Amino acid sequence: MTGVNGDAGASVDMLEVLKAASGAVEGEMERLVPASEALHGRIHDAMRYALFAGGKRLRPFLVSQSAKLFAVEPSRALRVGAAIECLHTYSLVHDDLPCMDDDDLRRGRPTTHRAFDEATAVLAGDALLTVAFEILAAEPTHPDPGVRCRLVEELAKAAGRDGMIGGQMVDMLAAQRAFGADEIVLLQQMKTGALFEFCCTAGAILGQARPDEVTRLRTYARDIGLIFQITDDLLDVLSTADKAGKAVGKDAAAGKATLVSLWGVDAARTKATELADHAIELLRPYGTTAAELVALPKFLLARES
Ligand code: IPE
Ligand code: IPE
Ligand code: MG
Ligand code: MG
Ligand code: MG
Repeated sequence: MTGVNGDAGASVDMLEVLKAASGAVEGEMERLVPASEALHGRIHDAMRYALFAGGKRLRPFLVSQSAKLFAVEPSRALRVGAAIECLHTYSLVHDDLPCMDDDDLRRGRPTTHRAFDEATAVLAGDALLTVAFEILAAEPTHPDPGVRCRLVEELAKAAGRDGMIGGQMVDMLAAQRAFGADEIVLLQQMKTGALFEFCCTAGAILGQARPDEVTRLRTYARDIGLIFQITDDLLDVLSTADKAGKAVGKDAAAGKATLVSLWGVDAARTKATELADHAIELLRPYGTTAAELVALPKFLLARES
């Protein structure tokens, strides 16, 4: 990685950092999404089954690290991290349904509709989506209601019709005709990148940072989102279900266009490396406070799950 700021991330042990971030957000989700003995306790069981299955918790990590740049109270960032992890988990539960990707394995164990049933999986996804907004809107997330409203609005936009859901729609269409590189990048920015953008800008919003800082974090997130999706597509081609914790070879089997299918493995990896250099450069003004965010792109390039 290039230059002085590339060195800012050199001493970071990303596995350790992610483990700590993951432990913290799991504790928070344990409090916010508890089990229930009520008549409808099955919905809680299914939500918790999907949530507590050992995901990487990358999105909460991004929220906490971006919040650190703006000296945000960590407990606030943790709540936003729990909210985004709930929403992300909902997207996975629905993505795996028979009417979408029809997958049997997620996070190393049977998908929610396999472990429960399809109706319960649809409802658990719906409940994970709605609880995310419940968490953001509640007072402990930030004392200023204007900040809470902004978070709610940003997440609704990122997850909605012109964000993640729009991307999922295009992803379904991508199996039906040949897509060009620009269209695939747009697809991925919506499908995956929009939530990453929310995570990185959430720290700046919580810290009531200047608009140009929000924009800087958004640009970093765009790079990271694309690197992340390129490496997800590389895993689909190169990894094993054992390592990835989910089925592989699915994109090619479904005839889905990805940058890997279009350019080949090496060119896709080169593009991801260029994006990593750009992402790191953006963090230069934050010096070593951004060490973990600086270390992330390289970690993503090397990931196996
Ligand atoms: C998988 O996301 C879905 C995509 C957006 C490609 P992650 O790879 O972050 O999944 P978990 O949360 O670690 O299981
Ligand atoms: C899933 O993309 C993206 C969302 C859930 C929004 P993929 O379908 O590529 O994710 P995996 O490979 O099943 O995790
Ligand atoms: Mg999918
Ligand atoms: Mg899928
Ligand atoms: Mg995939």
